[in-house]
Amino acid sequence: MFRKLFAKKADAKVLLPDAGVTFTVGRNETVLEAALKAGIAYPHDCTVGTCGACRSRLLVGKVDAITPFGYTLSREELQAGYILACQAVPESDLELDVPLEAGASRKYQARIAEQSDLTHDIRRVVWEVVEPVAYRAGQYMNVTWPGAPGPRSYSFSTAPGEAGRTLLSTFVRRVPGGAFTESLFAGALDDAAFEIEAPHGTFWLRDGDGPILLIGGGSGLSPLMSLLEDAADRGVKRDVILLFGGRAERDLYCLDEIAALASRWQGRFDFRPVLSEEEKPGRRFGLVTGEVADALAELGPAASTQGYLCGPPGMIDAAVSALTAAGVPLPAIFYDKFTDASTGKK
Ligand SMILES: Cc1cc2nc3c(=O)[nH]c(=O)nc-3n(C[C@H](O)[C@H](O)[C@H](O)COP(=O)(O)OP(=O)(O)OC[C@H]3O[C@@H](n4cnc5c(N)ncnc54)[C@H](O)[C@@H]3O)c2cc1C
Ligand code: FES
Repeated sequence: MFRKLFAKKADAKVLLPDAGVTFTVGRNETVLEAALKAGIAYPHDCTVGTCGACRSRLLVGKVDAITPFGYTLSREELQAGYILACQAVPESDLELDVPLEAGASRKYQARIAEQSDLTHDIRRVVWEVVEPVAYRAGQYMNVTWPGAPGPRSYSFSTAPGEAGRTLLSTFVRRVPGGAFTESLFAGALDDAAFEIEAPHGTFWLRDGDGPILLIGGGSGLSPLMSLLEDAADRGVKRDVILLFGGRAERDLYCLDEIAALASRWQGRFDFRPVLSEEEKPGRRFGLVTGEVADALAELGPAASTQGYLCGPPGMIDAAVSALTAAGVPLPAIFYDKFTDASTGKK
């Protein structure tokens, strides 16, 4: 029905100026559908307007929204002209600013090689594939298994190395009632034959000389670890503050790995865990996003700072607001929202 309501009269041309790419959006198509049909590595995940992965900035033209962009994008993003390509039907020719995914994704057969508990509800899961998977630090993979209701996404937690990896490390949080994670934590998938599609996403470290503020929550630490490990390996010399939000001390993990990263980082590196439900001597108390303004003030001019956010959608929205309120430009804010089957339905 939505398709009929938004049916267009004519094809529209879309230009992605940075990539130097153009494609045509036919009648009854969204921008994302047309881009994928044209073989363009347009970032996307859910395709139903809940994850924000297809977030693009409208530079020229006008679009209609199948479902309102405001369900997923923040007020700041809407004001800055962002749209969701999977929900956008052109009303005119368009120019869009969007970072394309790096290289085409491929499918790999995989099995679980190793699992170890990181916290009471987060586990390191290492997947083994026969051929190396090449990815950029910060990207993720989609996983399916026999009987899966649909793919699930998991971010890589280590740097890709020079030739990619055959052992793919991820951090998986158990979601109560979750189809994949409940089975995984119950041991029901230990010997399952998985299919992995990778790499996906555009969450990688952008070039620049300015400071970096990273904010993670729960298993959202995973791509931040990958990104930091890769940057440390490459000798990146930018100042970093890593904010991590948990409810209590038992939610903190990777503390030794973060300390090791800090000790070889070629610039300032501060790690700041923030607990929201447990007061502990020596620990910050409150919401992780409450620490953003102080961290930015310490790092230097907000206008030259980049923000990298990963974790639950609510945390990301609050962090985007805090960063923009403190002067970080929206195009310098990058995030992966860890959405699941309940996102947009609560
Ligand atoms: C880009 C991206 C990267 C991600 N990376 C990671 C990562 O590195 N680590 C990680 O742990 N997670 C990550 N996620 C989340 C992950 O992909 C899964 O969504 C998550 O693990 C839950 O999967 P599940 O099958 O266990 O739960 P689901 O089956 O998706 O269920 C999730 C919750 O929704 C409820 N639910 C199910 N169906 C409905 C419905 N119709 N209406 C309302 N509620 C419903 C369930 O009861 C449960 O509480 C990422 C997500 C994205 C989009
Ligand atoms: S792919 Fe468009 S919001 Fe998820």
